[in-house]
Amino acid sequence: MAKKVGVLTGGGDCPGLNAVIRAVTRRALTRGHAILGIREGWRGLVDGHFMELGSREISGILPRGGTILGTTRTNPYKTDGGVEKVLENFRAQGLDALVAIGGEDTLGVASHLFAEHDLPVVGVPKTIDNDLSATDYTFGFDTAVFIATEAIDRLHTTAESHNRVMVVEVMGRHTGWIAVMSGIAGGADVILIPEQPVTVEAACEDLRRRHERGKDFSIVVVSEGYELTYESGEKRQVAQEAPATDQFGHVRLGGVGEQLAREIEERTGFESRVTVLGHVQRGGSPTPRDRILATRYGLKAADLVEEGSFGTMAALQGDDIVAVPLEAAVAELKTVPPHWFEVAKAFFG
Ligand code: F6P
Repeated sequence: MAKKVGVLTGGGDCPGLNAVIRAVTRRALTRGHAILGIREGWRGLVDGHFMELGSREISGILPRGGTILGTTRTNPYKTDGGVEKVLENFRAQGLDALVAIGGEDTLGVASHLFAEHDLPVVGVPKTIDNDLSATDYTFGFDTAVFIATEAIDRLHTTAESHNRVMVVEVMGRHTGWIAVMSGIAGGADVILIPEQPVTVEAACEDLRRRHERGKDFSIVVVSEGYELTYESGEKRQVAQEAPATDQFGHVRLGGVGEQLAREIEERTGFESRVTVLGHVQRGGSPTPRDRILATRYGLKAADLVEEGSFGTMAALQGDDIVAVPLEAAVAELKTVPPHWFEVAKAFFG
């Protein structure tokens, strides 16, 4: 029986969103279903903003960054009558199913709507942060790591010319996946992440040791969520001055690199500079790996809709794309396990 399937992208954008939209649409159209694009995440279902999704709309979007649907961090649970409006609009549009492409926030909402209101939804794990549980990797992460690694490579050459310490601040929110992976790939001399908070004193000691060995430049990668941590036990989170939190309760991180570079220079006497990669990590074309992963996720999501396996999320486990319960994906943040940090640490100092 022909179905009408809604698709939305929520939360921070990331490379590969369009590849998922293309794959879901393509497979659903092949099966004779209709697809409705929902504009700007959950906001589109609250406010009733939609767009046609057909062969024309998905043509040429595979390599394009961003999302043709737009995205927001609107949380219907934090909006007056939001959940009721979502359910009303879902019914009014004659939708049979919904594919929600997002991270812990977007999929957290999907999980609640499924559990509490039986909304027929399936999820696709998106985020450059790679912090979703129940999947080995989220799409978008590989591209962010690629961009950060390229930046580290470039910073190496200028660091070497000027005998400087280059501090590179990367995104990742409360996990250090991007920092650890780009740090390993780029040959960082120190990596600071929230999960394994090396103290500022220890980081400076690593740099001094390296310089004693005859190296006169260094690369330090710091994750935006790293709290400046001291031997005294003091910890300091650096956040931007901004509206306190978003609708999901997140502070706007950023700025730790600047403070760290200042402290390194004061404590070691090594001239230091900082580069904040920021949203560059989220922009532009996805890597081939992300295009492929996003495509496989999109096809799986369409299959889950076909089977009626709602309340699930497409996930990567090993080399297989499988279905996992949505609630397992959002139950807790997937942090960097110690064995990954050990790989990075082998090259510190
Ligand atoms: O979750 C993705 C992410 O890019 C985080 O790494 C970062 O902390 C946050 O989003 C930035 O959000 P915004 O786009 O609202 O500045």
